[in-house]
Formats: sequence, structure tokens, C-alpha cells
Amino acid sequence: MCGIVGYIGKRDSVPLIVEGLRRLEYRGYDSAGVAVLAGDRVFIAKKAGKVADLQAMLDTGPVSGTLGIGHTRWATHGEPTDVNAHPHTDCNGTIVVIHNGVIENFRALKTTLMRDGHTFTSETDTEVVAHLIEEIRKEVSDLGEAVRLALLQLEGTYGLVVMSAENPEMFVAARKGSPLVIGYGEGENIVASDASAIVEHTRTVTYLEDGQMAIVRRDGVSIRTLDDAEIPKAVEHISFDVEQIEKGGFDHFMLKEISEQPETIRNAMRGRLLVERGEVVLGGLQPVRDKLFDAQRIILIGCGTSWHAGLVGEYMLEQIAKIPTEVEYASEFRYRNPLLGPRDVVFLISQSGETADTLAALREAKKRGATVLGIVNVVGSTIARESEAGVYIHAGPEIGVASTKAFTSQLTVLSLITLLLARGRGMAAQDAVVLTRELDAIPAKVKSILENAARIREIAREFKDADHFLYLGRGANFPVALEGALKLKEISYIHAEGYPAAEMKHGPIALIDERMPVVFIAPKDAIYDKVVSNIQEVKARKGRIIAIANEDDQDIESMAEFVIRVPRTYGFFGPILNVVPLQLLSYFIAVARGTNVDQPRNLAKSVTVE
Ligand code: AGP
Ligand code: GLU
Repeated sequence: MCGIVGYIGKRDSVPLIVEGLRRLEYRGYDSAGVAVLAGDRVFIAKKAGKVADLQAMLDTGPVSGTLGIGHTRWATHGEPTDVNAHPHTDCNGTIVVIHNGVIENFRALKTTLMRDGHTFTSETDTEVVAHLIEEIRKEVSDLGEAVRLALLQLEGTYGLVVMSAENPEMFVAARKGSPLVIGYGEGENIVASDASAIVEHTRTVTYLEDGQMAIVRRDGVSIRTLDDAEIPKAVEHISFDVEQIEKGGFDHFMLKEISEQPETIRNAMRGRLLVERGEVVLGGLQPVRDKLFDAQRIILIGCGTSWHAGLVGEYMLEQIAKIPTEVEYASEFRYRNPLLGPRDVVFLISQSGETADTLAALREAKKRGATVLGIVNVVGSTIARESEAGVYIHAGPEIGVASTKAFTSQLTVLSLITLLLARGRGMAAQDAVVLTRELDAIPAKVKSILENAARIREIAREFKDADHFLYLGRGANFPVALEGALKLKEISYIHAEGYPAAEMKHGPIALIDERMPVVFIAPKDAIYDKVVSNIQEVKARKGRIIAIANEDDQDIESMAEFVIRVPRTYGFFGPILNVVPLQLLSYFIAVARGTNVDQPRNLAKSVTVE
């Protein structure tokens, strides 16, 4: 999720590390820190804020050393504060750790370590790694071996670098789910989250694979598996430039973020979905569990894409959890004198956690006595901090202005909340297991849709000069129609509208002629035949039909000019899949039109003004 740099060699590591962290700034972060071995002591400077703030801190108290590690944090556990910033150490400040990812079993490890006398200073999951290595080193002197044994006890994801005041000759790096790349120099070696922090020093690298660790010394690197087998280094030469590296080799952040969705949807579920028990664990809602289970009504509030996520959530919560649910535009809610009471639970949905209208709606709801909870991406953001409790969506930094991976992670979290409430309100385990298995299968299904991107790009070329688009869907896919239209509008500047498909006959059908592209979201669900009728109405008026349809739908080809296939899933999880082709369609149309896809005109990533 964020940035790691480690260096060992002949030069002063501090300026090299800080410059490397600056190169990783595009990954988004909320705090930064560095540790350096100065003599036989480890010096640490870290704080919430930007790399520039860290640099200012270092300027006041310069330190140097030829072994050092640095980190930019995208908080998942513990607010973005100076104390929670990385690096983290063991009890004696001897063993130092920086980490990208989520240690899912950190609570159990922390409990055991505290019982064994370890004292913790932060709220993070990461800190347990330093104390775990400290505990192991009581029996195992070799740092590499102690790290390996610690890694075997970790569940979750990590890109990890460990150094020790007792080992000036090395550091250890390990990867499982968060990227790490090692750069080879003359009498020096460097590790980083991606090559953008390395290319100015060397273009000869090894990309660590999951389950691998590296013992990095000045004069060489050995790469080992977690069962302690040394393996040959796969050395590569980096040819691409820094900008391409920042985008992961994709042309735009938006496409990178669309492509990350199998992983980000998995991250939204990580440690929370107990598939075979048909259960959901949401630690962030534990403080308000009783209020949530006793709620007489749920209100979902947001703006733009986040509002669309709320509309899908309404279908889920009412149909599966059987709880009355309403959805509100934040900007409307805050001015319409809403009637709320203590048994109302209000969820504020916001990727940035800083949207002014959504924050104002939170304060309005809190003032009127409702329970206010957040569904937020940015940990420690204002909406997250002012909510009584909430659920982070763990989508990682979303750089593209058009929200994509945040939307599908919002839907995933809304699915988890729905299942939690459904079980609490009497759903049987065997019924819930059907749903938890379906949800667990979603990331792989999204991946299969992404493999079809070339087909979607061909369709996009056909419509790059369109002046208008209509998007139509029914039920939980009506909000997907709205979201597809918004994506197209905001990055291609083509006028587009989303409608409930049945609404066509109440006016919009007057717009249909041979120049009007109409996107239908037409999964084989209970109302498929109704959507087919709407398709026929448009076809009869020569509209150009693009259908999002299931892989086993044999009939759709005869009705639609273009068909984009998506796997089947349980109805209310369908929007998570059905939106992905629409994200790609809007992306490829915008690229064909040459607009600024990542920073469209007139838009901001976070609308912090009213
Ligand atoms: C979505 O693509 C837009 N960037 C915009 O509608 C966005 O969803 C809206 O401004 C809400 O932002 P938030 O989720 O950060 O609160
Ligand atoms: N889970 C760790 C934390 O919250 C690391 C987050 C990151 O990847 O930056 O501190």
C-alpha cells in the first residue's frame, strides 16, 4: 500500500532514503519515518505528515550512517500519528521494522507477547513483528533466521524490512502480498517498494516473489524461501522510466486502479469474512454492535460514486438483512431538516473521508442523535475521526480522480455489513454460507472480466465520437447504470445519463435513434425478461445497444449490437462485477478522445468545498 526504502553500502543512507521516499510519494501516504544505524545505536525520526515534514525534522537534528531504512505509511491499524508512524522497534530499540500490508493475526500475537513482558508503544499491527523477532532472538542469534521464524507465524500481507543495531553488516527484506524490489550496486545494495526509488542508483534488480526473503549485505544478496532454501537471484534490467514505474507500467493511474480490483476487493474482506462459518467479523463496528443490531432504520449518505454505492447498499440491506434503509445525497440531507432519532444508524460513505457535504451531513446526523458510522478509505481522515466507529475499505491510495477501486471496495464492505446484520437478525448459518462463498469468489470473477479488456477497448473505439449515452439497469443494477454514466461523463466529457430501465417509457425513449448508444446491464436474474423488453423497445427505435450480460446468456447476441460478458454471481453482489466493464468502457473512450483521464477538467479528487 505504501513506501519502503532500505540501503546498505558506503554512502550516507539518510539522503538516499529520503529521496527514495519522495519518489514513492505518488503512492499516497499519511506519515513517514527513517531509521539509521549511527555507530552502535539506531536513530529514528518519524512523524505524521509529508516526507517534507520528515526532512525538516532531520534538518534540525542531522544524523548519518551507511545502513538505514525508511517508510511512508498508508495507515490500516492505528491513526496516522507520530507514534504510529514507522519504523517500529522492539523493547530495547535494537530491532527495527518497516512494513507495508496488514498482519491479520496481530492481536493474538500482541496478547501473547505482552503476556511475555513486551511493552508496546503504538496501535499498529506492524509493531508485533519487532517484538516477535526480539522474542525469537532470545534463542536464535542469527538475524536472518530469527526473521524467517517470525514470518512463519504471520498471517496476512507484508513487504517488510528489518535491521538491527547488533547487525551493522546487513538488513533483511521479505515479501508476501506487498511488492519489494532489490537493486544491486557496487559495494551497496538497496531495497524499495518499487523501482522508482531505485532507478537513479541502479537498473539491475530482482523483484522479490511472495514467500521469499533476502539477506542484503554490502557485498552481496542471498535470496531464500521461508523454508530456508537459498534460490538463484532472478536478475532483471529496468528499461522503463520513473513515470511508467509509478503507474505500474499502466498508461494511467485509473487503469492501474481498475486492474488492482481483484486484490483491493480481497483486501476489503481480508480477516473479516469467515467463509465456511457464514460469518463476518468487523472489529471497527464492535463498539456500536448493540446500537447497530437494535437499529430501526439505516441511512446511507454520500456524494457521487459513494452515493451510488449507498444505492446498491439499500437493496442489500433491505432484501438480505431485512432492515429499512434510505439513501441520501449528503448535500441534500444536510439542508432538509431530517427527522432522526437514537435508533437511526447513519453510515457516511466516502473514499477521501474529507468531502465537505458528507462531513456536514455527519455532523447534522450526530447533532440529531443518530449513531454515525464511517465507510471510508483514508484512515484517520476527518469523516473517519468524527464517526463513532466504522469500517475501512482498505482500497489503498486512489490517485485517479474517477473513483473505481474504491467503489467496488465500498460495495464489498456494504456486503460485509449486510451479512453481519443479517446473521445478527436471525439468518441461519447455512443460508449465510451460500452468500459468503459467493462473496469470496468475487475477486477471481473480477479478474476474469479484466482479461476481456481488449474486447472492451474495441467497442470503445466504435463510440468515441458519440455525443450522448444512456445507461439502463434494474434493481441493484440501476445504481450501476448511474455509476457507468458518471464515469463516462467525468473523464470523456460525453453527456451520459443513467436510468432505471423501466423508466424509459416515461420520457427518455424519445431520445432513442440510430445515433444513441444505450448500455444495458442485463444479468440473468429474476427481472432479466423485463430488461429484455426494454432492450426490444430500444432496438425497435434503432438505438445502438451494448449489453453487459452473463457468460451463459444464449439469447442476448440476437438483441444487442455489442455484448460484454461477466460471470454470474449472487444477485446483490452483481454490481461489483457489472461495474467493471463500464469502468473500462469509459476509460478506453476517454483515452480515444485524448482527455486527461487521471485529472479530468473541472474536477478534484476530494471536494472539500461546499
Ligand atoms: C467519482 O468518480 C467522483 N470522483 C466523485 O463523484 C466522488 O465519488 C465524490 O466526490 C465523493 O468523494 P468521496 O467518496 O471521497 O467522498
Ligand atoms: N498495517 C500497517 C500500519 O497500519 C502498515 C500500513 C502500510 O501499508 O503503510 O501501520
